[in-house]
Amino acid sequence: MNNIKEKKLKQSPFTIVSRDAIPAAIPDKEPDRQEYYMDLCHELIENYIAQNGKSLTFNVTTFGCQMNAHDSEKLIGILETIGLIEALNEDEADIVIFNTCTVRENANQKLYGHLGSLKKRKETGELKLIGLCGCMMQQPEVVQHIRESYRFVDLVFGTFNFYKLAELLYNRLTGKDMQVIEVLEKPEINVEMLPEKRKYSFKSGVNIMYGCNNFCSFCIVPYVRGRERSRIPEDILEEVKKLADEGYVEVMLLGQNVNSYGVNYLADISESKILTENPDYSFPDLINDVCRIEGIKRVRFMTSHPKDLSDRLIDVIAANPKIARHIHLPVQSGSTEILRRMNRRYSKEQYLALVERIRAKLPDVSLTTDIMVGFPGETDEDIEDTIDIVRKAKYDQAFTFIYSVRSGTPAAKMEQTPPEIVNERFSKVLDVVREVSAEVSSRFEGQTKEVLVECVNDHMEGYITGRMDNNLLVHFPGDSSAVGTFVNVYLEKAKGFYYLGKQVK
Ligand code: SAH
Ligand code: SF4
Ligand code: F3S
Repeated sequence: MNNIKEKKLKQSPFTIVSRDAIPAAIPDKEPDRQEYYMDLCHELIENYIAQNGKSLTFNVTTFGCQMNAHDSEKLIGILETIGLIEALNEDEADIVIFNTCTVRENANQKLYGHLGSLKKRKETGELKLIGLCGCMMQQPEVVQHIRESYRFVDLVFGTFNFYKLAELLYNRLTGKDMQVIEVLEKPEINVEMLPEKRKYSFKSGVNIMYGCNNFCSFCIVPYVRGRERSRIPEDILEEVKKLADEGYVEVMLLGQNVNSYGVNYLADISESKILTENPDYSFPDLINDVCRIEGIKRVRFMTSHPKDLSDRLIDVIAANPKIARHIHLPVQSGSTEILRRMNRRYSKEQYLALVERIRAKLPDVSLTTDIMVGFPGETDEDIEDTIDIVRKAKYDQAFTFIYSVRSGTPAAKMEQTPPEIVNERFSKVLDVVREVSAEVSSRFEGQTKEVLVECVNDHMEGYITGRMDNNLLVHFPGDSSAVGTFVNVYLEKAKGFYYLGKQVK
């Protein structure tokens, strides 16, 4: 890079404040420390606005799962607190943050492609700052690549310190470093009392645990999200109570494997909290307690690992009408041998027996799943088993993925299947998945269901969209005044993954 470009990149678009001007007593403790940095950032932004006569905007783009989406709500909370305004889209933003996912290689490629297209805007100064965070940044080789090939990126941070956004941003805006990079190998502390900007005003995700201990042999999540740690029940219940007080009616309890909630508490790591008095307190207890909170009308959870879904949980769901009749139960494969090599710790028969136990007590439940095609060593017979399990489990919806090699995972060292063969098998599985879910998800046609209205329909004028407790969507005539309320809708016509209907009293 030539010197002029280098100089341009180094320059902060904001008023540079001398580091000497920062008060000496920076709080050590969180969240005080971040609140302190949020104040400092706020001052910087105000200065900029006063000097330039216009506000500064940001956009956060989120890749990946619900966990990342919820983290982004916290990032947005911080950015708004320091005085930035959310832009309608990335092209109009002065500051862009990408909260990345790395569960499959194409997620990484997507980010690099995107960064390439932002380079020009960054060099002209039209785009003032680029920040990258999330799971992909937990991989040292990714950070190295960004350091070398994407020097116009300003901020890089990971999944264990994203709460430090204000501090890192401040360091970039006031410092001389071209890039501020801070990624931790493992969680140090858990900071929860920072601002959040929830996407909806009536439903919200609530983290009940972080990380994963399962080490499925194909999966990178345990490496980038760390060991499994559950939040203590008191904190979770307090958060849900607060949401209910603010008018939220639906919560989704979030974790990579909610069925092992309570096995390892956060407090064991941070020592900042006392453990709950009941050492046997587990997910069914938690979901029951959440349902008891006044104002909360619907409770969802995501994700369930089949090996840990207990009969007690099924009983608790059956006994509690507030808990949504939807279980996302990722199967990955129908072949017992492939499941063994994936380290999933259940067989095809055990999975199907679990599905039967669920359906026996929850006859109208919707089951959804994740399926992977192309795991190393998979044969045509294994694919037949996967197709068989799709037909027998009768999924309302199945997310189907092509296996992607993740370096550092055990499966990466196994012999891989040629892509042509995998692609062919993938289409075969997809055809069956589509056929089954179109048939299964249309079974409610002619019934009336209670739905939570989520939004005005963008594609059909005069229509609004509601979600049933089994997670299926219905579009029906209505206006924005119904958003956030529960209404009864007659399901007139099944359209594959959604219904068309009309509101009834
Ligand atoms: N904790 C959840 C899954 C989280 S990842 C569970 O265990 O069910 C979401 C989905 O991504 C997985 O269910 C799996 O189907 C898919 N996935 C994970 N790693 C993958 C890989 N290496 N290649 C392709 N798909 C993968
Ligand atoms: Fe990955 Fe398995 Fe953990 Fe799910 S349970 S996040 S697939 S390691
Ligand atoms: Fe992706 Fe991280 Fe979620 S890798 S799927 S965003 S936990």
